[in-house]
Amino acid sequence: MIQIHPAGRLKLAILASGRGSNFDAIYQAIQDGRLNADIQVLISDKSQSMALQKARQRDIPAYFLDPGAFARQTDYEKEMVGLLRKHQVEIVVLAGYMRLVGQVMLEEYPHRIVNIHPALLPAFKGLHAQRQALEYGVKFSGCTVHLVDEGMDTGPIIMQKVVPVYDDDDEDRLTERILEQEHQIYWQSLQMLAEGKLYIQGRRIVTKL
Ligand code: GAR
Repeated sequence: MIQIHPAGRLKLAILASGRGSNFDAIYQAIQDGRLNADIQVLISDKSQSMALQKARQRDIPAYFLDPGAFARQTDYEKEMVGLLRKHQVEIVVLAGYMRLVGQVMLEEYPHRIVNIHPALLPAFKGLHAQRQALEYGVKFSGCTVHLVDEGMDTGPIIMQKVVPVYDDDDEDRLTERILEQEHQIYWQSLQMLAEGKLYIQGRRIVTKL
């Protein structure tokens, strides 16, 4: 069994492409003392992302890294790894980061990249997970915090939360209901890491108290 992180304050990077409400929730958990961590840096692949603006307002070092400026994904990720090293990042937190993570990042941070997905994996991987759930007609969906591996939304699962789907739901209502739970399970999962409680056993993550 491999311990993912020894007990101690986490040095996080947040990677975000959009509005950044998961970033908000993690930031607030740190401010309130619920999460033993520091956000060392925020990196976005979108110059106009709200997450980038919010990081600047919070005096968190914030970078826009333009994937279009690099010939290959490996070059983009090498640049990113340079920034992560510079800011002494230990755990990379994908918070609405809409891009597949490649080999360069995975080799630099094995078992140390965490993602949140708005469905109960392995159902409804990829984009528009809430729309996929509605179209399929499931009665329950939810959200998943998991480690990132080379697949899309396939890595070992840390925590999940179930959310009901109602007959009169539209995509916005379901998204909102799931998001409320995302904002709880992300910081809770990270706090378990900070407490040194999470171990990998095959493709399962087990908690040792
Ligand atoms: C969240 O719902 C997150 O689960 C999802 O993007 C949203 C980001 O919102 N992530 C994915 O779909 C990743 N495949 P936020 O920017 O407000 O945190």
